[in-house]
Amino acid sequence: MTVTAERARIVDGRVRIELDGIGTRELHPIWLRERSPSPEVHDPKTGQRLLDSWSLPLDLAVTAVEEDEENLNVTFSDGHVAPFTLDGLTAQLRRQPDERDDIVLWDGNLQQIPEADWSQARGDDAALYAMLESLRRYAFVVVRNVPVELDGVAEVVEHIGPMRRTNWGGIADVKAIADAYDLSMTTRALEPHTDNPYREPVPGYIFLHCLVNNADGGDSMITDGFRVAEDLRQGSPEAFDALTRVRPNFTYVDDDTVLENSGPLIELDEQDRVRQVRLSNRTDAVDAEDADLLDRYYRARRQLTDMVNDPTYQLHFKLGPGDLLIMDNYRLYHGREGYRPGTGDRHLRQCYMDRDTVGSRRKVLARQHG
Ligand SMILES: [Fe+2]
Repeated sequence: MTVTAERARIVDGRVRIELDGIGTRELHPIWLRERSPSPEVHDPKTGQRLLDSWSLPLDLAVTAVEEDEENLNVTFSDGHVAPFTLDGLTAQLRRQPDERDDIVLWDGNLQQIPEADWSQARGDDAALYAMLESLRRYAFVVVRNVPVELDGVAEVVEHIGPMRRTNWGGIADVKAIADAYDLSMTTRALEPHTDNPYREPVPGYIFLHCLVNNADGGDSMITDGFRVAEDLRQGSPEAFDALTRVRPNFTYVDDDTVLENSGPLIELDEQDRVRQVRLSNRTDAVDAEDADLLDRYYRARRQLTDMVNDPTYQLHFKLGPGDLLIMDNYRLYHGREGYRPGTGDRHLRQCYMDRDTVGSRRKVLARQHG
């Protein structure tokens, strides 16, 4: 049956419709039925679906469409009438802006370090949004004027959402101690790495808060892992491929804890874009699988670490009291220079937040300030 209307008509039980800015689309009856804006189908308060759409008849068909300037009522073979607005339907079909569209890949030539001023952002949602936008686009931001107090970083975290607690607690010391359970608690240099790839999920963001940092050395160093990965993809596609296919295991074990996860050093999403990088020289181990593949993998890993250690990719800076470096742990490699004991004090504190927590706060702020 075909019913002719101005924009929409029925073709084989589906709706063929032409919408401004979208073009002509053929819409499946179940796709339409489960999106019905009727209060019988969607709870007006939560927007969540009330309908058990899994049990809809698979031979469901559209039997009538009726439209005016703004609305499109669609009648189905089960008797339901869905009261769509054309604007609402258009919004469902329009490609949503992608968070990846405007990220900035950088290297050691980045002229301006993204910064925020906590004395402003703590009371101004527009400034807080700008801070989180810098974090999204550059994968890091240096926040100045955070209280120089032991738990000063908590004030920033609380403006964003719940902290990610781990077996090490909430906020952990990064300073040299006699009984270090992690190399960050020594005076050693730390080679570029990502944090805690043995956790699941891997912590999304690292908050590194400086209380004092006047010993010789101890500069922070960061590298954009997405930039390195893209350059590797261009220059050495075989190496790139090996690093996306081999999945090292990552493990952390102590008397009370066994943490295990695995994942490639370069993980891709469904569109072959880099989703996450991992690098943890102290905790990774590959299975003894195909030796030819491992040969390619080890060569590729060397190429990767040569790039990560190449100063042209790195930013170096020294955090001072009241500075907070927030880093995207899925995109950046971070490390530090060693520092010389006895030349001064170095005491930083760090904690984590999950990706969805930070993303949610940013998206809520975007409603007003985006
Ligand atoms: Fe780290």
